[in-house]
Amino acid sequence: MTSTLQEGILVGCGNPLLDISAIVPMDFLQKYEMKEDDAILAEERHMPIYRELVDGFQAEFLAGGSVQNSLRIAQWILGQPKVAVFFGCVGEDEYADILMEKARSAGLDVHYQIKKDVPTGTCAVLITGTHRSLCANLAAANNFTIDHLDQPLNKALVDNALYYYISGFFLTVNPPSIMQVAATALAKQRPFLMNLSAPFISQFYMAPLLAVMPYVDIIFGNEAEAHAFATAQGWPTEDLREIGKRLVALDKLNPARPRIAILTQGCDPVLLIQRDSVEEFPVTRLAVHEIVDTNGAGDAFVGGFLSQFVQGKSLDVCIRCGNYAAGHIIKNPGCTYTGEPQFVE
Ligand code: AP5
Ligand code: NA
Repeated sequence: MTSTLQEGILVGCGNPLLDISAIVPMDFLQKYEMKEDDAILAEERHMPIYRELVDGFQAEFLAGGSVQNSLRIAQWILGQPKVAVFFGCVGEDEYADILMEKARSAGLDVHYQIKKDVPTGTCAVLITGTHRSLCANLAAANNFTIDHLDQPLNKALVDNALYYYISGFFLTVNPPSIMQVAATALAKQRPFLMNLSAPFISQFYMAPLLAVMPYVDIIFGNEAEAHAFATAQGWPTEDLREIGKRLVALDKLNPARPRIAILTQGCDPVLLIQRDSVEEFPVTRLAVHEIVDTNGAGDAFVGGFLSQFVQGKSLDVCIRCGNYAAGHIIKNPGCTYTGEPQFVE
């Protein structure tokens, strides 16, 4: 990092989740009717998963939660503490302590809302080979309320930020909070960034997603998420470039800042879609033996991107740093990193 950034320049809201990650056989997935690349919300029938992972599969506990992952990665690359502020809801328990410790040691300025009687959320990460299947039990994370953002200190943090990032995942929790942050960003003419997060968001939460879309300056997603959005919209195309063009053409409140879509596709090139152009950014393919797990790859991509974006770097640099960060965390368990960042602009 070259110059010093303003503290709290980047604000994010999301679900703080502790990942319970384990390598499991395929029949474990089948038992819970999950696919090898799923991301779902836990229903009653999934509740035994967490205990089973701990008791039978030497599960690892890792800090997770999509937005918190991205902000931790951004902090790691920036190397200057408290550039990013995070809001989300946890319980008052050991899992919350672990999340807080991991986030703070990454340099993140964490402002959790705490709900005493509800456990901190968890996410089962079921690893089969190079795939990962996610089952989130939001628990306390689902109890986030807008009044947390209205607390004077928190309100000041939101007002003073220059960049905002919220996941599509948070649409299942508290759309009014998202709309409030988005409206602040619009009023102050500051970029508001969002993520499609998972196919189920487009399938089941399209109404709140479309409500916020006019505020979204940059939308991130992977292939499956882009296809799910297109299908839910009834768009007659499976071409990712075409889907990207339609995403950026959706209604927008601030026409002075045309929407940008950034679509990742695993080891294939990242697509940067703007009104009149589609650009490709190559990914350095990792050998199979280098891959520990891809859990958090998309989140790390966003983290790397944000670390440069808040420094006012070009989209080209932001995307290359996104690919760098994703490549790094794939070589580590979950969304974790080792050593000092080695990104060269
Ligand atoms: P998860 O969905 O695993 O994270 P992700 O960051 O989206 O990782 P994916 O593996 O899905 O990557 P992607 O498909 O998005 O990106 P792509 O493959 O295109 O989620 C992880 C976290 O989500 C967990 O910590 C969990 O807590 C949280 N979570 C789950 N449910 C939640 C909920 N309801 N609310 C909140 N949080 C929730 O790749 C992206 C980039 O990676 C590429 O552009 C490239 O740079 C790189 N890359 C990918 N594959 C390769 C490869 N083979 N070689 C080299 N580079 C690669
Ligand atoms: Na993803």
